[in-house]
Amino acid sequence: MRNLENIQSSRIYGRRHGKPLKPASQERLDRLLPDLEIILPEAEEERFHPSVFFDNAGKSNFGSYALEIGFGKGEHLAWQARANPERGFIGCEPFINGVSGLVDKVAEAGLENIRVYMDDARLLMDRLEEGCLDQAYILFPDPWPKSRHHKRRVVNDGNIRELARILKDGARLHIATDHRGYCRWILSHMLASPDFVWLDRGPGDWHERGEGWPPTRYETKALEQGRRSTYLRFERRPRKA
Ligand SMILES: C[S@@+](CC[C@H](N)C(=O)[O-])C[C@H]1O[C@@H](n2cnc3c(N)ncnc32)[C@H](O)[C@@H]1O
Repeated sequence: MRNLENIQSSRIYGRRHGKPLKPASQERLDRLLPDLEIILPEAEEERFHPSVFFDNAGKSNFGSYALEIGFGKGEHLAWQARANPERGFIGCEPFINGVSGLVDKVAEAGLENIRVYMDDARLLMDRLEEGCLDQAYILFPDPWPKSRHHKRRVVNDGNIRELARILKDGARLHIATDHRGYCRWILSHMLASPDFVWLDRGPGDWHERGEGWPPTRYETKALEQGRRSTYLRFERRPRKA
């Protein structure tokens, strides 16, 4: 069931702007963003395969597609795109200074397999076709620790259902956090979902970032402040025939 009005009227992300950008970063953002930014067409009933967002790369068909929700300054997204040039990556991030950080990395590494949606990931997910993604990442989502803010948590039942809809059978969902309470919340909501299997078997799995990723900005801060992170891996169960 689609719930666009509810999404549009319930903002769940924090700030959009931080410090003013340095002139060089602003110039790079203005110059490069038009080729990277995803602008969703108005017709809200239409849904898209992610390949349409890469038409201007001269390579509209990557072998697979991945989504990162809340990529911050883009350390992980840029690393993944570089390590997997055959995969198209869509990153969602409403924080302009974060997008600028990613654009700098895209420019430095000459990456052609990243597209950016500069708004609430829920609006983009709503417009993606069923079963079109092979991977999704939610790394260090804002924990919103106060109970009255829990409704802003990006890992929630509605988004879990939406991720189950857009991920292929057998696709992976990675969620990391350094916040114990949010970790318990994520696990209880994910384990209640009929659509995902939790793959980790013990602390050796969930304390291991794995796959050679670099730590993200938030993860580095957490480490400096003595907080250990948890990395949760889930697999989309096969759909019933
Ligand atoms: C705590 S930061 C973590 C950033 C990055 N993943 C990292 O580990 O450094 C959470 C990020 O999620 C973004 N965010 C929050 N809600 C979002 C939403 N609904 N859609 C897309 N991004 C969102 C925020 O703007 C913020 O940059």
